[in-house]
Amino acid sequence: MKNIILIGFMGAGKTSVGKALAERLHWKWIDTDAEIERRAGKRIPNIFHDYGEEGFRKMETEVLHHLLQSSGQVISTGGGIVLRKENRDVMVRHGKVVYLKADLPELISRLRGSDRPLLQGDMEGKIKELWTARKGFYDFASVTVETTNRSIDDIVEEILQRLINVQKSFPLTGKDPQGKDLV
Ligand code: S3P
Repeated sequence: MKNIILIGFMGAGKTSVGKALAERLHWKWIDTDAEIERRAGKRIPNIFHDYGEEGFRKMETEVLHHLLQSSGQVISTGGGIVLRKENRDVMVRHGKVVYLKADLPELISRLRGSDRPLLQGDMEGKIKELWTARKGFYDFASVTVETTNRSIDDIVEEILQRLINVQKSFPLTGKDPQGKDLV
């Protein structure tokens, strides 16, 4: 069972890149945060408010395990999904993990005005704190793609090229950047 799973810090572009990549491959696109909100019937800030971060993390792990029972999906994840080892393990087992990396100043500028619960108050200070605390957590990915100052199309093309190169045992359906079948 294979999927492409996008990880990275908040604001790294997992949602927009995930959507574009899924469209390109004619695969289903799923966002773990959207799935959590759908199941809980509440928006993420309300989930954090009502159940705390721990409650959110439990739901996140459940949703991830459930989604990874299927294949042929592009899955955009929440930035903190990498914190639990069991999440990292299940992602590696059921897909190719792609780390979307962005510079700290770029993240700070992209996240300005965000309602993300972990960034309320001193947003810049909190981003820096989480950024430092999470250093190394994204390094288990098979592929790392720089997203700073790049267009979504450019990032999608690099992901496809890099995935084709890293795995002969991972047949992608859809088209490669030259329009040829990937299988
Ligand atoms: C979080 C990132 C958010 C969301 C939640 C917690 C995190 O997702 O899951 O607010 O801990 O980094 P995005 O990375 O899509 O913003």
